[in-house]
Amino acid sequence: MSKPVIVIRKLEDSPDWLDRRQLAAYQSTIYRVSFSPDGAGRQQLLICTPDAGIPAHSAGGCACNDLIVMRLLRPGTPIFLSLPHPLPSNPFPKVDLKKIPSPCFVLEEARLRKNLELISRVQNEAGVQIILAFKGFAMWSAFPVVREYVHGATASSLHEARLCFEEMKTKAHTYAVAYQPREFGKIMQYSSHITFNSIRQYKKYGKRLGKHAISPGIRVNPGWSPVGTALYNPASPGSRLGEPVENFKGKLPEGVEGLHFHTLCESSSYDLEKTLGFFEKQFGTFLPGLKWVNFGGGHLMTRAGYDVPHLIGVLKAFRSRYPHLQVILEPGSAFAWDTGVLVSTVLDIVANKGVKTAILDVSFTAHMPDTLEMPYRPRVRGASEEPAAQDKYLYRLGGVSCLSGDYLEVYAFEKPLKVGQQVVFEDMIHYTMVKTTTFNGVTLPSIAILRSDGRVDVVRRFGYRDYKNRLS
Ligand SMILES: Cc1ncc(COP(=O)(O)O)c(C=O)c1O
Repeated sequence: MSKPVIVIRKLEDSPDWLDRRQLAAYQSTIYRVSFSPDGAGRQQLLICTPDAGIPAHSAGGCACNDLIVMRLLRPGTPIFLSLPHPLPSNPFPKVDLKKIPSPCFVLEEARLRKNLELISRVQNEAGVQIILAFKGFAMWSAFPVVREYVHGATASSLHEARLCFEEMKTKAHTYAVAYQPREFGKIMQYSSHITFNSIRQYKKYGKRLGKHAISPGIRVNPGWSPVGTALYNPASPGSRLGEPVENFKGKLPEGVEGLHFHTLCESSSYDLEKTLGFFEKQFGTFLPGLKWVNFGGGHLMTRAGYDVPHLIGVLKAFRSRYPHLQVILEPGSAFAWDTGVLVSTVLDIVANKGVKTAILDVSFTAHMPDTLEMPYRPRVRGASEEPAAQDKYLYRLGGVSCLSGDYLEVYAFEKPLKVGQQVVFEDMIHYTMVKTTTFNGVTLPSIAILRSDGRVDVVRRFGYRDYKNRLS
């Protein structure tokens, strides 16, 4: 019986079946686990934590309850656990992807609802308002579901504000880095709150808000962010996003009702807690005179292992310090985190000096730009993104555009890939559809919803007109 090699990636996520209560105990240390059946059909689990010192004899044959032992694992140490009971099956219906046009984004309604339930629980238990950041997820055919749980959105432009008004059926909390004079009238029409990125912009537009009953705010920059990647760090030196405290000269401009900060990205509640320390130290004296504070986005509360009770505690503690303030959070990713896939198809397989590339009917630069920009390696169904020496079926995944770098480095597949076969990218709903382009004239992926009852609705197909209408 050969033991499968099960790979642990740096923790961001965990299988759905892993008991959340168990995870909660590990959230500060656990690394992402993956699993697969061994030759006897038993599920085996490999798990790593950053703590050092796993005793060698712990490898093999531990029961699931022995997870506590794993606190001692050294990162990268392979250890097999035979789980004595069959794992609960995935609670989500499995779609027959063959019925779906390719390429296609497929949102799974049950997964979206699961995220929304958690977000709505945090909202209720912590006594805050959580609104959806359209910049991360603006698939409006899913808004009727979103509206069952949350009642607002944040917009970063006139078009997002209008989409909020028309499809979320409410006025937006709008924040843009700068407003266009010719658009500002319309933005007011669609907004309940408008946050300005600078004192100058507030002075230019702020006095027009009163007669529309719009609440004005200013974005501030507390100068600290846990985000390491400069491209995503709003508090990098010289950042253009939000006013640093010294620019206020000890006093808020008259009429400001709220402050907004955004310094997180896929961050934890502990990062929020730390940010609040910086924020309150610098801007605390302004808070008694305000009506609301917006903690921005980046709160990835739907990621497995996120310490939700701690988040609720942090929010409640803030509210008890400032009971007069309405607290708003505006995550994007958390809403659509792991809620669906991008289905693609192999069009060709090319080889160059031993490197095989499967050319797909999608483009990384046009359809999944974060895989190149961030960059990160997406999970691919049935493949490993961390090939091992013994893996045989190795393929780069090639985009269909002519950009030389439009490919992902090798993935290991269980069997040789064939032309016509589907390749499914996991977790491709947030920050994908909102960022797609038609570079090279490549067709945009269709959009489908896998309903909770198993039906598949293809809600959008794109064609030549969508390409042509962007140009003239
Ligand atoms: C001002 C602001 N609010 C909210 C968000 C949403 O953040 P996330 O999708 O990481 O939760 C962003 C993301 O860039 C942002 O810039």
